[in-house]
Amino acid sequence: MKRILVTGGTGYIGSHTTVELQNAGYEVIIVDNLSNSNAEIVGKIAKITGIRPEFVQADCIDSAALKQVFERYPGIEGVIHFAASKAVGESVEKPLLYYRNNIVSLLNILELMPDYGVKGLVFSSSCTIYGQPKKLPVDENAEIQPATSPYGNTKQINEEIIRDAIYSGAPYKSIVLRYFNPIGAHPSAEIGELPLGQPQNLVPIVTRTAAGVRKEMFVFGDDYNTPDGSCIRDYINVVDLSKAHVIAMDRILNSNSEKLEYFNLGTGRGLSVLELISLFEKSTGVKVPYKIVGRREGDIEQIWADPTRANRVLGWKAEESVEDTLRSAWEWQKRL
Ligand code: UD1
Repeated sequence: MKRILVTGGTGYIGSHTTVELQNAGYEVIIVDNLSNSNAEIVGKIAKITGIRPEFVQADCIDSAALKQVFERYPGIEGVIHFAASKAVGESVEKPLLYYRNNIVSLLNILELMPDYGVKGLVFSSSCTIYGQPKKLPVDENAEIQPATSPYGNTKQINEEIIRDAIYSGAPYKSIVLRYFNPIGAHPSAEIGELPLGQPQNLVPIVTRTAAGVRKEMFVFGDDYNTPDGSCIRDYINVVDLSKAHVIAMDRILNSNSEKLEYFNLGTGRGLSVLELISLFEKSTGVKVPYKIVGRREGDIEQIWADPTRANRVLGWKAEESVEDTLRSAWEWQKRL
């Protein structure tokens, strides 16, 4: 059984990916500092798959602690690196924290990988690196634009670090996955996006409003240059997204793929904020009271993926409908 280290494995995308890795026959070791998740997730994963992943509570900025993980679990063949701070607003207030967490973690992993014969890294990047693309849908060759937040900048810098390390002849391969907007939860409703602190992302806010945790939600702007005036995004089911990580890891370990590859992970379909709210109401039968307010600073007007490369090269495609995905988010909210 191939051993994979999943950093941030109790987090939102990390936990769903752990499930898919186990389903595909990989042995998973999770490292997580639990800064934005909790240890109970390990048990939930076990409940879904019947296998308890190994779990080490450690911070990836602690190189000695990470080294211990590689010592304790010999033969790790691949790393999927999710562990990172991800709140855009917080990153503007605490930029140094974001640079330390997101940059040092990656450096530690890349420095340790050759010592333990790790063959590859799958890295969580974001469509945020494209800024507002000039051409839509956006493919992997689109220009990378100056980041508008320290968080976004850490993703760009991380991509550059990986590129430079690989080009310098590092003895491993990497696949960089650029996510669009991951939403939804596992169909079992055992795992999903934990609302630690105030959620900032659209779907957790929609489900909390539907549940009455919030009286109403705000739609940030209806005066954009889009058909209904609200922003457009490409919302991708988290389980679909997770499956792409398994395929990427298989590709690194079992094929003679290029040393470094990039893939956009999205559905190829753009949905406006108003369309998403209306689809949520239609597919769950639950009303979401909202008010249109001013634009949110730093928002991109519209972006959706051209996922052709991932479809063709990885043989991966987003399969869940957005209706089913929104229903899964609602089931998860009800469980909470
Ligand atoms: C945000 C981050 C992005 C990050 C991603 C992770 C910003 C500017 N970008 O993307 O860097 O990779 O999360 O998931 O924060 N909206 C409302 N009302 C709300 C909340 C959101 O109308 O209460 C709208 C937003 O204006 C936006 C859309 O919903 O148009 C999606 O927002 P969100 O879920 O926060 O994702 P992004 O901003 O696309």
